[in-house]
Amino acid sequence: MKDWQKETVYQIYPRSFQDSNGDGIGDINGIISRLDYLQKLGIGLIWLTPMYRSPGNDNGYDIADYYQIDPVFGTMDDFEELLAEAHKRDIKIIMDMVLNHTSDKNHWFQEALKSKDNPYHDFYIWRDPVDGHEPNNWVSKFSGSAWKYVPSLNQYYLHLYDVTMPDLNWRNEKLRDKIFQMLKYWANKGIDGFRLDVINNISKDKNLPNDTFKTPLDDGRNFYTNGPHVHEYIHEMYEKIFGPNHFVTVGELSSTPISEAVKYTNPKRQELSMAFTFHHVKVDYTGGNKWTLGHYKLTDLTKILSDWQVKMNRQGGWNALFWNNHDQPRAISRFTDDGKYRDQSAKLLAMVEFGLQGTPYIYQGDEIAMKNAYFTDINQYQDHESINAYNELINRGVDKRLAIEILQQKSRENSRLPMQWNDSKYYGFTTGQPWLKPEHHDDYSVEKVLKMKNNVFNFYRALIFLRKNKVLLTDGAYRQLNPEDNCVYSYERYDDKGKILVMANFTNENQTRKLENGFDLLLGNYEGIKVSDGTVTLRPYESIMLKNK
Ligand code: NOJ
Repeated sequence: MKDWQKETVYQIYPRSFQDSNGDGIGDINGIISRLDYLQKLGIGLIWLTPMYRSPGNDNGYDIADYYQIDPVFGTMDDFEELLAEAHKRDIKIIMDMVLNHTSDKNHWFQEALKSKDNPYHDFYIWRDPVDGHEPNNWVSKFSGSAWKYVPSLNQYYLHLYDVTMPDLNWRNEKLRDKIFQMLKYWANKGIDGFRLDVINNISKDKNLPNDTFKTPLDDGRNFYTNGPHVHEYIHEMYEKIFGPNHFVTVGELSSTPISEAVKYTNPKRQELSMAFTFHHVKVDYTGGNKWTLGHYKLTDLTKILSDWQVKMNRQGGWNALFWNNHDQPRAISRFTDDGKYRDQSAKLLAMVEFGLQGTPYIYQGDEIAMKNAYFTDINQYQDHESINAYNELINRGVDKRLAIEILQQKSRENSRLPMQWNDSKYYGFTTGQPWLKPEHHDDYSVEKVLKMKNNVFNFYRALIFLRKNKVLLTDGAYRQLNPEDNCVYSYERYDDKGKILVMANFTNENQTRKLENGFDLLLGNYEGIKVSDGTVTLRPYESIMLKNK
């Protein structure tokens, strides 16, 4: 068993974590000042979202210079200090690496724009107009066409994301060499791994065919998701960088079937350590469409989780486990109750996640039950994806109030609110004006939560401790119990010697279920447990983890 299979990863979104210089944007020195807090939580790895030099159109996922730290976050010296301080505390650092695209401000793209003969031109994906139009009908994930016309070249470039983020041409060996060289530079700094942004999109079908639009998912992605050479490219990175440096790597793999996720993560294939996949957080995309008011059925959610558990395990793959990240609204607001049952909900989600097989991730703020931003005006948003989606909804004739309600439920801006450290106006995040301002004052903060009896933070600590010490949680097989149950999610992890049982009531009512004799309570989100005559009564949002004697 590898260490990262029983450790927990904590994701930091640096912009929103801790500001140290009063400019309203979180920074590296801020992170350093909070390392003791993270050590107390017990995590083993930190994933840092991008801090390279960037114009910030996509908060750092648009890299202008892979070799520099953006001044808003600090300097390279600060970064090296962070690395050393984290290592002193036995915490590993995983850097986010964006290899599908760059910023249009990147030197490579600036050169590429100069002429078709420029050696960097072929670092990107260009096509001539077809009948005066875009080369195909692919849609950008940030709305609109995935192509942008450049009059001086009479060509279009491909951008699967923001228009300022041109896609790289991985078919070009010279580009690949440049990338490997750059990855080595970071490896030589002594980092411990990479989170690879949208890595399953780097290899496009060379003919770039039109997609069918039979469903909202037939928007081009059939021709670039898990494309023809992606496994070769990743294996090459493994051989050259990940393997020799003993890296922990996690691939962001949206729209990826289990069979492919197995290929990326089965150690025999020497590609990635684990797969970050999204099917479970798309469970409330009505008709496959994200920008709708979604409702989910627990049985749909648990079926997805169970499929991934069983099939990844059977075929030697490895899951990354998560509910939240910087691209997701907060799960507590979406799948449970962030009001009356806020504490129980936060703990229930944590327990369900930590009981599964894979490496658990905590997104900053999960450990204090942070909830959605619930912005009421489009002007409060800065995220391009959300703003574009809003405009598209309005253009389609959707009522403004409904469009705002959809964003309140689905926008990723919800999880980008500054971290709440104390109860002051901006929660001790900054002494200046935060780059993203909360609309409501929320009375949950680290300071306050830590004073509460049986608090969420300590519940996470207990789960992290269990993960490190119970082999069943890492290695045990998974079996769902009562898959038709639409209120209580029950599953067990087992081997030939023992069993751990997790039961989680996703409703605000009592639920009584059968319970075999012979179990001890390992952890629960209420005090005590209500068992009688072979049944257990789970209170609203109650979750329990039991171990057989
Ligand atoms: C996934 C990242 O997590 C997201 O924040 C970003 O917008 C896209 N990739 C594009 O890099």
